[in-house]
Amino acid sequence: MGISIGLVGLGSFGSAFAPLFKNHPAVSRIGFCDREPNLVEKFAGDPFYADKFNQNDCYTSLDEMCKADFDAIVVITQPWLHAPQCIQVLESGKHVYSAVPIISIPDNNEILDWCDKLVAAVKKTGFNYMLGETTFYRPAAMYCRRQAAAGAFGDFVYAEGEYMHDVDSGCNLRQVSRQRQSSTSGKEWSPILEKYIERGILGGPMHYPTHSVSGPVCVMNAHALHVNAYGYRNNNNDPYFRSQAFSNEMALFKMSNGAVVRIVEGREMPGVMGNESETFRIFGTIGSFSEHRWFSIDRPQMPPADIDNIPKPKRVDLTAKEMFDPLPPEVEHAFKQVANRGKSDAELLSIDFNPTGHGGSHPYLVHEFVDSVATGRQPAINIWEASRYMAMGVAAHESALRDGETVKVADWGDAPL
Ligand SMILES: NC(=O)c1ccc[n+]([C@@H]2O[C@H](COP(=O)([O-])OP(=O)(O)OC[C@H]3O[C@@H](n4cnc5c(N)ncnc54)[C@H](O)[C@@H]3O)[C@@H](O)[C@H]2O)c1
Repeated sequence: MGISIGLVGLGSFGSAFAPLFKNHPAVSRIGFCDREPNLVEKFAGDPFYADKFNQNDCYTSLDEMCKADFDAIVVITQPWLHAPQCIQVLESGKHVYSAVPIISIPDNNEILDWCDKLVAAVKKTGFNYMLGETTFYRPAAMYCRRQAAAGAFGDFVYAEGEYMHDVDSGCNLRQVSRQRQSSTSGKEWSPILEKYIERGILGGPMHYPTHSVSGPVCVMNAHALHVNAYGYRNNNNDPYFRSQAFSNEMALFKMSNGAVVRIVEGREMPGVMGNESETFRIFGTIGSFSEHRWFSIDRPQMPPADIDNIPKPKRVDLTAKEMFDPLPPEVEHAFKQVANRGKSDAELLSIDFNPTGHGGSHPYLVHEFVDSVATGRQPAINIWEASRYMAMGVAAHESALRDGETVKVADWGDAPL
């Protein structure tokens, strides 16, 4: 028998993950939970879920779902709710998957406290925590992790990561914010946020740092030691930025491996710096990756005596397909069924697997969490890794608030083997 999974938070993002979790071959039962009963009904009434869903597994509160006998709960609620909800799940005796980030609230110290509490809860309960960070499973990150494991970068020297999401871009952040605050749980947030503003505690885009920092951190397998950061303050009293000290933040980190990492979180500057809005570039002494291109040089180990015969640098242009890691065939088949509903198994054999959702990361995130639970191992983006992403954002925001002062980055160490 497979594992049982409860999904809490069936809004726009949770809805995208429901079919993937349901169809994973290691999952045998799925349950649905949202404080908005109409969202639960939408899934409960969809015949696609019937083979693994029972009407008793409809819930309208996380409390109720935690009392049920699921192996794991997937939390895709609003970002200010994640950490306490994940601790509640762990303490109810279940593994937990969380949408990013660990938590997003305006107070730096409170965020670090939540990281601390989550690490303690995972250690105490022995259940898994996994952060659903999409950049970690973008094809570029998979390819670069393989290159790093093969030593192809040489020594890491420098990396850049950025998440450029202008407030008025295609995925309009004003509309996202209105949507997230329109539900019952959303309406409860406004008075809490007002109290932070009254106390002068303001957040910033570095409180959503995971898309920009996770690439460099996971590829280099290094953590940040300290940071110097600056911010740009919105200058026209835009109500969207009322609770934020800065609308754009830029940071330079010194890493544990000696490399330097530049991170940008932009919310009030249209455009992108590379080919994509959510991306990274990594440079080593003999290999570098930038925008789907791998550059390398077969430099001899010792400085060359014959300077006329030094090998020339090479460049390889990579497709997403070349960069993706393989998934087990039965998992790939199950995810193909999701994307091609109604097609027979025979028809699916002739269709290519085309991972979609934030660069193709969604199916990989689902597989990593389900497989970690099913096989009893730590997930790749465990609480120790996730805390490194969150702590970088917190330290950068703190440094920006102090106009670039050097700030130490908190760290909880490596995941236990
Ligand atoms: N690339 C990415 O990784 C990425 C992209 C988009 C969204 N997200 C994350 O996904 C999360 C969800 O975003 P969204 O746009 O779907 O939000 P949403 O507001 O549409 O959905 C959240 C849902 O959670 C439900 N909920 C909250 N507390 C609950 C509780 N105690 N019990 C039951 N239901 C509860 C709400 O009723 C709501 O329907 C956010 O935290 C966001 O940061 C990540």
